[in-house]
Amino acid sequence: MRRWRSSAGFFTAWAAMAEGRRQGAVLVTGATGTVGASVLAELAARGAEVVAAVRDPAAPSARALGVPVREFTFDGSPTNAQRALEGVDRVFLMRPPQIEDVRTFLFPTIDACRAVGVRQVVFLSLQGVQVNRRTPHHAVEARLREARVPFTFLRPNFFMQNLSATYAADIRVRDEIFVPAGRSLTAFIDARDIGRVAACVLTEDGHLGKAYTLSGERALGYRDVARVLTDVLGREIRYARPREDAYLDRLRADGAPAAYIEVQRMIYRIVRANVSALPNRMVRRLTGHPAITFRQFAIDHRDVWMPDGAGGILQPGPET
Ligand SMILES: NC(=O)c1ccc[n+]([C@@H]2O[C@H](COP(=O)([O-])OP(=O)(O)OC[C@H]3O[C@@H](n4cnc5c(N)ncnc54)[C@H](OP(=O)(O)O)[C@@H]3O)[C@@H](O)[C@H]2O)c1
Repeated sequence: MRRWRSSAGFFTAWAAMAEGRRQGAVLVTGATGTVGASVLAELAARGAEVVAAVRDPAAPSARALGVPVREFTFDGSPTNAQRALEGVDRVFLMRPPQIEDVRTFLFPTIDACRAVGVRQVVFLSLQGVQVNRRTPHHAVEARLREARVPFTFLRPNFFMQNLSATYAADIRVRDEIFVPAGRSLTAFIDARDIGRVAACVLTEDGHLGKAYTLSGERALGYRDVARVLTDVLGREIRYARPREDAYLDRLRADGAPAAYIEVQRMIYRIVRANVSALPNRMVRRLTGHPAITFRQFAIDHRDVWMPDGAGGILQPGPET
């Protein structure tokens, strides 16, 4: 592994070989999810051949995608993974939030990518993952390197979509944002920008072996977020700024599993340490367009937070 990483000659030859020979479709995992759906839409807009990997091809969410679908579950079976890769030369790989044991459930897919000679795996990772060994994303990145699969890592910051999905009901029903983030700042990114970036790196040369941290261009505190929502929605939205215990107690009362609550504790400790505060211009650099602002995101998702909107039932917090 060390020998390979230090061998610039090998790396350059590998990248040159893998690029410029796109001969198949892009398989998009998590295709019905927040990021996957955006990746599919952006690839389709570029005229790329795509296949959506879905657990249930008959589900309305799969049928609504409007692209060819293929049944696939991260179930740990190398045979199933190889079957999903037929006619595919690139993969958008994501780790479903429900999967903690990536060794059992994701690694066989990585090994199958290696076995069938996939030319690029773009992995939806996590900002700061390189220094956070406890995350499943860290293990997946390491496995992709070890297996010598041509990779590109996308390491996004917190999604703006956490506000329109996970926390939508808090905002819609209680007019408040209830997260233990203190006075910290976060350079939120719109998942649609991750889709744009993924489509670029999957269809353009020069991205093999690269890792991109994707943040918004501005860091916001949750008080700023509440202010923008107040403006856009025309009613006051408060940042409740609960203490960690109060937040975790509410998750318990809502029936969240213990493991999930522990993940939440870890996430917001990291957030309060301002680790997610650094904005950057990577979206602009890779796509040629500035990152979507939080205000624009709020305007585009306004209906979700309206009292008669589709905010849904109260759900537990984001998983990373
Ligand atoms: N939220 C954040 O702020 C944030 C920030 C950085 C990184 N991330 C990372 O982004 C990833 C989540 O992306 P997302 O928000 O787009 O996910 P998402 O909206 O929760 O969607 C999950 C997708 O995974 C599919 N799925 C679930 N279990 C599966 C299985 N066993 N086999 C195959 N597919 C399965 C779901 O399909 P069904 O339709 O069948 O359920 C769905 O398409 C996570 O790895 C998370 O750590 C999140």
